[in-house]
Amino acid sequence: MNDFVRKPFIAGNWKMNLDRKGALELAQELRERLGARTDVEVAIFPPAVYIDELARTLAGSPIRVGGQDCCEATSGAFTGETSAPMMVDAGAELVILGHSERRHVYGETDEQVGQKVRQALDAGLDVILCVGELLEERKAGETEGVVSRQLRIGLGSVTAEEMQRLVVAYEPVWAIGTGETATPEQAGAVHSYIRGLVEGLFDAPIARALRIQYGGSVNSGNVVELMAVQDVDGALVGGASLSAEKFIPIFEFDLS
Ligand code: PGA
Repeated sequence: MNDFVRKPFIAGNWKMNLDRKGALELAQELRERLGARTDVEVAIFPPAVYIDELARTLAGSPIRVGGQDCCEATSGAFTGETSAPMMVDAGAELVILGHSERRHVYGETDEQVGQKVRQALDAGLDVILCVGELLEERKAGETEGVVSRQLRIGLGSVTAEEMQRLVVAYEPVWAIGTGETATPEQAGAVHSYIRGLVEGLFDAPIARALRIQYGGSVNSGNVVELMAVQDVDGALVGGASLSAEKFIPIFEFDLS
């Protein structure tokens, strides 16, 4: 059973969903429900154009607002991109990097993800670094190899001190948006592998303090069994973060 030596962290990745009105209404509902609760950390990741307004709407509440991606460069001729300092300017406190849709739909490389991590930390953003294997990689027994490569390169420039500002999300690609969730055993095995890897890259105290979220079809029906796993410290939620009705029971998960 999870004794929560690390503060649980539930994040809602809205992806390219909701409009301005819907985003504001959802943020208000979450704010009212979460109140001043501090035993669980909650963050939302709206589309970039809504960050500014949502950050102002949620100012003074414990809900943090972040971006879904940032550019690997600070400024310049990168049409369509948003830099990490611009995200900070808009009010973002953190950013998701290396999400599987960035890696597999937009062809982002491990090296690019590593550069983005550097940019984000330099700009003052906390980072959720996503890693995870494709179904064919799992079937070929390559899960650990893939996760290890993504982590080593993603964390390539990160210092021990900066690790306090970093969260890892394990998101098996075959479980994202598919309704298929990793079993608690499958998630637990990869989470403890990741913690061991981070211990090897840094040291035991850093590995112990690192929060590792699980992501991939998390909902109110499976959050308890996943959060009960010792090395699962939170959830990165996509589809079920798009309505208060579905998201609230996730961050109000109760293991008792
Ligand atoms: P899902 O998405 O919860 O809709 O599977 C998770 C994610 O992509 O972060």
